[in-house]
Amino acid sequence: MNEFLRHLPKVELHLHIEGSLEPELMFALAARNGIALPYATVEEAKAAYDFEDLQGFLNLYYQGMNVLRTEQDFYDLAMDYFQRAREEGVLHIDMHFDPQAHLQRGIPLEVVMAGLLRAKEEAESSLDLTVGMIMAFLRDRHAEEALHVLEQAAPYWKFLDAIGLDSAELGNPPAKFQQLFARAKELGLVRVAHAGEEGPAEYIAEALDLLDVQRIDHGVRCLESADVVKRLRDHQTVLTVCPLSNVSLKVVDQLRDHPLPQLLSEGLKVTISSDDPAYFGGGLLENHIACAQAFGWEADTFRLLNRNAIEEAFVSDDRRQELL
Ligand code: HPA
Ligand code: ZN
Repeated sequence: MNEFLRHLPKVELHLHIEGSLEPELMFALAARNGIALPYATVEEAKAAYDFEDLQGFLNLYYQGMNVLRTEQDFYDLAMDYFQRAREEGVLHIDMHFDPQAHLQRGIPLEVVMAGLLRAKEEAESSLDLTVGMIMAFLRDRHAEEALHVLEQAAPYWKFLDAIGLDSAELGNPPAKFQQLFARAKELGLVRVAHAGEEGPAEYIAEALDLLDVQRIDHGVRCLESADVVKRLRDHQTVLTVCPLSNVSLKVVDQLRDHPLPQLLSEGLKVTISSDDPAYFGGGLLENHIACAQAFGWEADTFRLLNRNAIEEAFVSDDRRQELL
């Protein structure tokens, strides 16, 4: 099964590129930029990745990305993940990135975009890996700031496939960003949002109603509302479920308790992704292998999940035909 999963052409719709920063690269970039880390060794960093909840993870996620300073750093970060993903049989990645997390540290948007776009170009020309760009906004910061950053990103709108919404969910409902998402829609940008990870099923309904999103990132708590499940099923709205992330952040106790099998049996359009692979114990292949072990799924289930992802991926029609 593991060999089948490695060779299965895989598509990942939910990946935070800053969450792909492996401790080894974090140490290399810290040395290159003369930055002190709170860890003495790679092992010490890995040992710290033991989270109580989403906020516990976010604290280390924002701290880790402090080593990213130059265009080359962003390029190296993305290429490091793209190369690893390609070796695991991944052919397309829709990549979230968090400009506000860099702007607030004094890193200009131009630096972030130049590095990430150069890596995307390089992956597409030399790795046979296509990359979608999702500019994500931090929901625990002010809505006005998000709007300002979206306007500031005008030179890059043409490179974006979508905007997203991430960071601390509880207490930061989709309604807070109605204006931002309306503006993105006016600009012709697709919208996606994290909802129903730690937050309740109502946040999923709100993201659909008020933000007019095309995808729900995570969405596992939809099962708490029969109405929300029905809406997601009727519209075949894709859910980008991240199994190892949900275990790491204690959304579920263990993978065997994960609602993935139920989401599938409800007829929902489920896909699987790694979210933040450097922090949650592995990339897309590891997530596939863990699901095979926990749920005893056969090849057909994994083919279905990846077909769902291919149908929803931000790719050209030609590329979609190639992937199908
Ligand atoms: N949830 C919310 N925000 C995030 C995540 C996540 O899993 N990863 C990076 N930002
Ligand atoms: Zn996420």
